[in-house]
Amino acid sequence: MYNQLKNFHNRPEVFSVYTADVLWTQPHLADQMLETHLDQDTPLASRPYTAIDRVVAWLDETFQINGKAICDLGCGPGLYAERYAQLGASVCGLDFSANSIAHAKASARANDVSVTYKVANYLTDPLPQGQDLITLIYCDLCPLSPSQRQTLLGKIRNSLKPDGAFVFDVASAKAFKFFIEHSTFKRNYMEGFWSSNDYFAFNNTYRYDDENVSLDHFTIVEEKGIWNVYNWMQYFTPVSIEAELNECGFNVIDILSGFDVDAVDETSFGVVAKPIK
Ligand SMILES: C[S@@+](CC[C@H](N)C(=O)[O-])C[C@H]1O[C@@H](n2cnc3c(N)ncnc32)[C@H](O)[C@@H]1O
Repeated sequence: MYNQLKNFHNRPEVFSVYTADVLWTQPHLADQMLETHLDQDTPLASRPYTAIDRVVAWLDETFQINGKAICDLGCGPGLYAERYAQLGASVCGLDFSANSIAHAKASARANDVSVTYKVANYLTDPLPQGQDLITLIYCDLCPLSPSQRQTLLGKIRNSLKPDGAFVFDVASAKAFKFFIEHSTFKRNYMEGFWSSNDYFAFNNTYRYDDENVSLDHFTIVEEKGIWNVYNWMQYFTPVSIEAELNECGFNVIDILSGFDVDAVDETSFGVVAKPIK
């Protein structure tokens, strides 16, 4: 028992385990995450619709979306993809959550909008080619390790037209400043979020100050066994993201201090990048 508890509280090596697929695709969690996406009172998985409308209006103003080929990576339930299509773009939405894609398809059907949705992992599956614009929204580059980010940035570069643009947002150094280490234990922690069965959960958070990374680690103990979710977050400055993009063949065209212009909180910022010619 002592050794097991000690194990639950071990600080893992930075980016040593990847469990984003568990968080987003394990059936019970996929349901919870989809609900969180659509809940207008929590910004945990997506921005509220009012903010999404502002971001899409800015994208349209900047890139004149009508007639463009756009791929939305990690599109979730299609909140951005459907809006791009409504503005006349030819859109591919890609996500590894079959649950979210089913919701996105049903919504497109109900609203009579044409979007191609694919259940796929953007780290391992092919991306559509010849794109004018690729978006990766809500800091989705940040849970990835440096080598995963390098893989993804290389694939995005290959998918873009030579003059295409990659638009995304990342967590900022300011958000890292606010991140506090803590340790919590509770039966059915987060009101049954982690399982429909009875469970005990340990939640330990860690700062990795040398790497500007945080970890939110959940250990779920159920009658059938013990499993873990590791939520990593890499925090960037405009300088660090530019260096990483340059290494992967991109030039930074613009840094947006608040990606959602009407709600600047400085915990994230937006980036517009284009392939180096
Ligand atoms: C934080 S949510 C953001 C969703 C959407 N961009 C939005 O802002 O409404 C992250 C999304 O990325 C998806 N995702 C995470 N890693 C992925 C991967 N490797 N391949 C495909 N989808 C992924 C998740 O399933 C989830 O729908």
